[in-house]
Amino acid sequence: MDRARPAWFLLRLLLTAAALTESAGPLTDPERVAGRLVFYQTEGSATYLRDSGALASGVATETVFELLDPERNFSSAGFSYTWDLGNGEVIRGTEPVVRYRYSESGNYTLRLNVGGNPPQLAPAGVFAQEVQVLDAVRSIQLVAPSDYSVNRNSSLDLQLDGSPPMWVCWRFLRNCAPDPAAGCTLTLLRAASLRLNHTFGSAGLHCLDVSARNAVSALRVTFSLKVTRNDRLHLLFILSCAAVLAATFSFILAIACRPWQLNSSQVAASSNATFLKDQDSKIILNFSSVEKGERVPLILQPGSQYCC
Ligand SMILES: *[C@@H]1O[C@H](CO)[C@@H](O)[C@H](O)[C@H]1NC(C)=O
Ligand SMILES: *[C@@H]1O[C@H](CO)[C@@H](O)[C@H](O)[C@H]1NC(C)=O
Ligand SMILES: *[C@@H]1O[C@H](CO)[C@@H](O)[C@H](O)[C@H]1NC(C)=O
Ligand SMILES: *[C@@H]1O[C@H](CO)[C@@H](O)[C@H](O)[C@H]1NC(C)=O
Repeated sequence: MDRARPAWFLLRLLLTAAALTESAGPLTDPERVAGRLVFYQTEGSATYLRDSGALASGVATETVFELLDPERNFSSAGFSYTWDLGNGEVIRGTEPVVRYRYSESGNYTLRLNVGGNPPQLAPAGVFAQEVQVLDAVRSIQLVAPSDYSVNRNSSLDLQLDGSPPMWVCWRFLRNCAPDPAAGCTLTLLRAASLRLNHTFGSAGLHCLDVSARNAVSALRVTFSLKVTRNDRLHLLFILSCAAVLAATFSFILAIACRPWQLNSSQVAASSNATFLKDQDSKIILNFSSVEKGERVPLILQPGSQYCC
């Protein structure tokens, strides 16, 4: 997309050798041979001018040698080009352009050997360029619990897969509502992970907006986070606590109150069944009174009354 950018910050070339010819004449004294290397990378339909000496790994790259010959002294000369990519790969050709890709990140020295053809009529030279190959930021992942609580310090770990250094800017959006006025917190990251600390002020859906960039790429990701009110947990604990206590109390009550509830009947006891002895001294096997006696009050007890 930058191919047409007018102000090219051109890569400085190191002219380490030139002028191999000795004959006289305007074409045979090329002492001031100059040129430049220009890097492009193409991804999808976009072409980027890489003018900072940094390239993205794994991306189709094209390097063009532009001979500076304003007086057109060498317009009729031919050249041969030997490209040493610095990764063990050497490519030869007669065009001032080479296409390749670096698969691994790292620092490389790209060397171009330009040979004149015929040598008497054209300049020759060796040009070298330091190239820093970086992995583009292709993913940002949130390694954290999926639930967060209000008014509690939460730690959120972000994992980024690009080459550092990366500039990371992040912000939390309450209810995921875009807030153009709010800036983001910018951090220079020299590692692949970042731990954010945040205290959510309200329950509901929140968003974490993260953008990251290094010299060759930029990526923006939004995570939605569910923030719950932690007193709900509290309430759950209280209720379960109450249930246990209520069960105990009602059991005691059931035992203690049995004689009055049954009036003159006597409780002959047992865990599951109650043997009732009525006036006529008949023994009645009664399960239901046990069930009722122990269970009904449990539900009716207001929990908070007993609780811890
Ligand atoms: C091109 O030739 C002219 C003379 O015709 C000379 O003055 C000039 O330095 C040459 N330029 C280069 C780059 O060799
Ligand atoms: C590559 O070069 C840059 C500076 O150009 C330097 O900061 C970085 O540490 C180098 N990386 C490696 C792996 O040597
Ligand atoms: C969160 O942690 C910071 C220090 O890391 C502390 O100052 C703050 O009080 C904590 N907030 C809560 C709600 O615990
Ligand atoms: C979050 O807190 C940890 C220590 O608890 C700290 O190492 C980290 O730098 C903090 N993160 C940010 C973005 O301040």
